[in-house]
Amino acid sequence: MKFFIDTANLDQIKEAQDLGILDGVTTNPSLMAKEGIKGVDKIKQHYVDICNIVDGDVSAEVIATDFEGMIKEGEELAALHPQIVVKIPCIKAGIKAIKYLSSKDIRTNCTLIFSAGQALLAAKAGATYVSPFIGRLDDIGTDGIDLIAQIADMFNRYGFETEVLAASIRHTMHILQCIEAGADVATCPLKAITGLLNHPLTDKGLEQFLADYNKLNG
Ligand code: G3P
Repeated sequence: MKFFIDTANLDQIKEAQDLGILDGVTTNPSLMAKEGIKGVDKIKQHYVDICNIVDGDVSAEVIATDFEGMIKEGEELAALHPQIVVKIPCIKAGIKAIKYLSSKDIRTNCTLIFSAGQALLAAKAGATYVSPFIGRLDDIGTDGIDLIAQIADMFNRYGFETEVLAASIRHTMHILQCIEAGADVATCPLKAITGLLNHPLTDKGLEQFLADYNKLNG
């Protein structure tokens, strides 16, 4: 399973990249706003800065909600850097835009997916990724992981190449559940990724190894 980091914070992106396990980055307008990045030129430069830190795909989201606006913005974003994947919301104009952009060999990530039917339409339009938001489904009492499994099963059964990118991951357990559910990618906050490292028996074992070494060599 690939790991993306879900942030526009350059320090966190660098930290994950330095760990050597990062496969890409996802951003959205809320994450860009959180970093105080405003204005079209600054936002575009920020995407390029992210691409220069990581080796993998970097999702950059369109703001337009009409077909013409989405394809114009999508083409501009894709031209910024070869690693850019254009992120498009799962609405009617978005599905048409994904179809258009994929016919131009521009890669897309269909975002704000909350049902298998939405994922099916995005895949049929040629999306490179679909992003089901598991945390936001959990928030309203619906099991987000079930949706990941349903979409992964559907894509396997019908041979879609679209990758399931589990998004809105809130904690480490979500990552482990995504593995079982068959997600291709998990995009996570840094804390959820580093949480995978934690185990008290590792800490205890290391402490013992060092104590035994120091008894003889200390
Ligand atoms: O990847 C989508 C993500 O940024 C949304 O996460 O926690 O706002 O639901 P959240």
